[in-house]
Amino acid sequence: MKKLQIINGPNLNLLGTREPGIYGTTSFEQYLTQLRERFPEVQIDYFQSNTEGALIDKLQEVGFSYDGIVLNAGAYTHTSIALYDCIRSLKSPVVEVHISNVHQREEFRHHSMISAACKGVICGFGLDSYRLAVEGCLMSDV
Ligand code: DQA
Repeated sequence: MKKLQIINGPNLNLLGTREPGIYGTTSFEQYLTQLRERFPEVQIDYFQSNTEGALIDKLQEVGFSYDGIVLNAGAYTHTSIALYDCIRSLKSPVVEVHISNVHQREEFRHHSMISAACKGVICGFGLDSYRLAVEGCLMSDV
């Protein structure tokens, strides 16, 4: 059984109530149930933290044994050299995900510190960005 880890960063625990015009009204837990039903052949683990160090600890924990990591680093995407260094150090491919199309938003969201270390980037498809990233992880051996 393939093992994938989804990691959500700061404020993504508030999905469903946080700026619903941008992020929708579905909580991540509700979405995760649907996602697991859609990929019964895959073990999909989930972790969320508002803390940069905790995200790095989780990446290091799973990043040498999992088949793929789907990472929405939230605002750390735009600031974190520590996450960039961490992702570069891992064996497992990391797919960067954003719910919103960050390129249609404020200028400070246009640059990602982590994209260059990731296998690929998906943004702008709402919560379905995660499904597309899971499909990306399952596609061939990325
Ligand atoms: C986000 C986009 C980031 O700019 C923002 O800081 C987030 C969510 C997204 O999923 O669209 O927290 O990563």
